[in-house]
This record gives sequence, C-alpha cells and structure tokens, in this order.
Amino acid sequence: MKDFDQTCFAVISDIHSNSDALKAVFEDISDQGIESIVNLGDHLSGPMAARETAELLLARDMPSIRGNHDRWLVENRREDMTSIDRVAFDQLDEHHLNWLRDLPPALWLTDAVFACHGTPNSDTTYWMEKVSSGGEIVLRERDEISGEASGINASLLLCGHTHLPRRVDLPDGRVILNPGSVGCPGYIDDVPVHHVVQTGTNAACYAVVRKTADGWATAFRYVPYDPSRMIELAKAANHPNWEARLATGWVV
Ligand SMILES: [Fe+2]
Repeated sequence: MKDFDQTCFAVISDIHSNSDALKAVFEDISDQGIESIVNLGDHLSGPMAARETAELLLARDMPSIRGNHDRWLVENRREDMTSIDRVAFDQLDEHHLNWLRDLPPALWLTDAVFACHGTPNSDTTYWMEKVSSGGEIVLRERDEISGEASGINASLLLCGHTHLPRRVDLPDGRVILNPGSVGCPGYIDDVPVHHVVQTGTNAACYAVVRKTADGWATAFRYVPYDPSRMIELAKAANHPNWEARLATGWVV
C-alpha cells in the first residue's frame, strides 16, 4: 500500500453497491489532486452493482474497514440475509467475500486518526445521532458522544453508518467526522424503532480532511452524478423503492 498522506486525504463510506456514485467520487477526489483515501465500510450491500463496486475497490489500494452489512454478508446464511444483502451476495465471488472477511472492524490510520464504522465498539450504533421514541433522528447529548470515544486517544475519529454527513468537536478538542454516504442518500430502518434517514440530495457525498496548524480542516463534498443506471439495476433486482432515494435523496 502506498504511503498514506496524513496531511490531506479523502474519507468515503457507505457505498452500498452504487458503483456509478463511487466512480464520480473517485473522479472528484482525483480532480482535487488528493491521492489518499480511507473507506469506512458498507461497501457492497445493495440492490445495484455489488460486483462492479467490489472490482473498483479491489483495484485500488486503500485502507478499508468492515461495516455491519459487510459483516452480515460473510457471517449470515443466504436465507437469513436482508434482501439487499442477498442481492449483493448473489453477485459476488469467493474472493470478494474473502476481501470483506479480512477487513478489520476498526483501524488506526496514524497515531492521530482512528476509523470505525459505527462507534469504536459497535458497527450498528449511531455515534453522533440517536433515534427518538417517535422515530426522529436527533443529535445525541455531547456526553454520550464523548463517552463512545472513551480511551481513543486520537485527534480525529472517523465513522460512517448513519449516511448523514456530520462533524462534532468534543470538549477536549477531538474531532468526530462522518463523511456521509457515497451511494445511498436515504434509507428506512426499524431498529430501535421505525425511522427514516434522508439527506434530501441525490449527490454522492464524501469528506476531505486537511491537517492545519490549528487542527483538522474538514469539508463535505456533494458530487452530482447520473443515478439512472443504478435505478434501473435496483428495479431489475426487485427494489423499485430505491428509485426515489437514488433520484432525489428523499425516501417515499
Ligand atoms: Fe452501516
């Protein structure tokens, strides 16, 4: 693996089998002259182009971690999988699954940068948000967010999973950053209660991080791309409900 540029890099997450969004993001990263990328997981699960996405990722040598859907793809029996995991599973070969199997659940990019999918201890927990009893997504209390960072002595803490781009600075100066989702701008979940996550844009999202003398400068990049091929694939895979979220970023 090439030396990771610790002073300027891109953070991508939650591609969810959307290879066209991933290509657009790679192009945008390259256009900015950025060479280092870290990938926070949930790469392939989705009703679109899992195999293509896997090939794009395997062709590039970037530090990557395993998300909850990546874990389910290699831990669950096919008949027990969620429908989007099963569509992906059916497109994948053993070497794709072995790649997922070997990914770490968290990693230290440098002494200063820690990366995980959900929280340091869980790939299914939202770090900076929580779901209210009424199903609203709200910012967690600062103490709760800090508590999840306990013992992680890094100045930059990267996470994904919620698909919501967000930065929170802890009282001690540590920065938590979620780059949003490359390929899935909206979804529905039923844990802990029914809730909808939606960004309101169909753009592929990621983050750029730069180290400055005063701390971590971070920026979210929203990259437009044409989702029509992905929509057709989702429909062909019997997931027509993905059309609205891919086309608009809203879940209907
Ligand atoms: Fe996830």
